Amino acid sequence: MELYIIVGIFQALRLSIFTLMHLDSLRLINFRNYKELSLQLPESGALFEGLNGSGKTNLLESIHLLCTGRSQRAAARKTMINHNEQSAFVAGCFDYGDSRVEASLGFDRDKKVVMKINDQSLGSFSEWFGQRPVVSFGTDDLEIVYGPPENRRRFLDMLISQIDREYFDALVVYRRNMLCRNSLMGKVTDPLQYEVYEEAMAQSGAELVFFRRRVVEELRGALNQFYGEISEKRESVDLLYEPRFKIDCSSKNEWKNVFCNSLAQQRRRDIEIGFSSTGPHRDEVRFFLDKRVARNFGSQGQCRTFALSLKLASVLLIERYRRHSMIFLIDDAVSELDQGRTSRVYPLIEAKGQVFIATPRLDVPLRAEVLNCTVSDGKVVVR
Ligand SMILES: Nc1ncnc2c1ncn2[C@@H]1O[C@H](COP(=O)(O)OP(=O)(O)OP(=O)(O)O)[C@@H](O)[C@H]1O
Ligand SMILES: [Mg+2]
Repeated sequence: MELYIIVGIFQALRLSIFTLMHLDSLRLINFRNYKELSLQLPESGALFEGLNGSGKTNLLESIHLLCTGRSQRAAARKTMINHNEQSAFVAGCFDYGDSRVEASLGFDRDKKVVMKINDQSLGSFSEWFGQRPVVSFGTDDLEIVYGPPENRRRFLDMLISQIDREYFDALVVYRRNMLCRNSLMGKVTDPLQYEVYEEAMAQSGAELVFFRRRVVEELRGALNQFYGEISEKRESVDLLYEPRFKIDCSSKNEWKNVFCNSLAQQRRRDIEIGFSSTGPHRDEVRFFLDKRVARNFGSQGQCRTFALSLKLASVLLIERYRRHSMIFLIDDAVSELDQGRTSRVYPLIEAKGQVFIATPRLDVPLRAEVLNCTVSDGKVVVR
């Protein structure tokens, strides 16, 4: 009996533990327009102000790269190497309260990459990704609202992969097997070879669909809350997850079996068109403003409020699931927003973990004690 109580208390304690993390220092060498930079950063974050083209977004990009292994603006790695150099280096020290993690990434024009965590080399980006949760918001993110469905899928994939490692693993397996299935088309007719990949697609696809369904439902609530706060409920917003392969079933196993059969039935047609025509890789998430499709009817300010609220909701969800604090990167958050919305955005942003804000304006109404920096021509001066 006593043992049960002890185990119960231990589990309750474990569940309530919230891991704090912040980026304590950043070091860049030959990264975009930074020849060399060393910066100490406080727990609350920093404000980077400067003229257009001074290097503010580049700084956020280096932090995103340290956290995920990728640029938030989907830039190829070699474009991040200074024009006059052959290689670049980014390093950061992450403080977890009782421990510190030194992450460093070096890469060159021949696609060679060296990733190290505390001096231990990592073999792949999947080992690098997910340990240092980050959410970024920038001008490109308006494309989540305006752009094609793949932008919305990418947003969801990035979010859920940081919420749960199983989703990230399922995504990798699904993509790999779909590409393998596609590569057989036009060359192989033996059904047995297709079946191996279809089985793996169905197994991992079921994980993706069930995760997406659950997370979109939670995102809806949080999105409404943030959009309502920023806009003072001037418009209503909504999200709808529309799986490409739509069936009504409550268990993953049932979904898996039906999808697997459907892939077999579709096979002939897929071979004719040369790719896998159905599955989670073609899912859609629809965004609504006052019950109308946001990208067709929303104004620029409304769509920006939408994208920003989605990102704030993402932070909330990652913190809720992971019980882990975040790094939040905000690039030029409020252009196109009216004065009222602008004044309501910053208090919401400030409440979210360690925040790095890039802005060309000098009148950002921040209350928290962030590091105030002026960026000019690849140099950062702390004010
Ligand atoms: N690989 C590179 N090597 C050297 N300079 C680069 C490289 N890539 C981009 N730049 C330069 O970095 C500069 C700063 O870019 P960045 O996008 O960070 O500006 P910014 O401060 O965010 O400006 P804005 O306020 O207009 O968004 C630009 O002048 C750009 O040409
Ligand atoms: Mg910029």
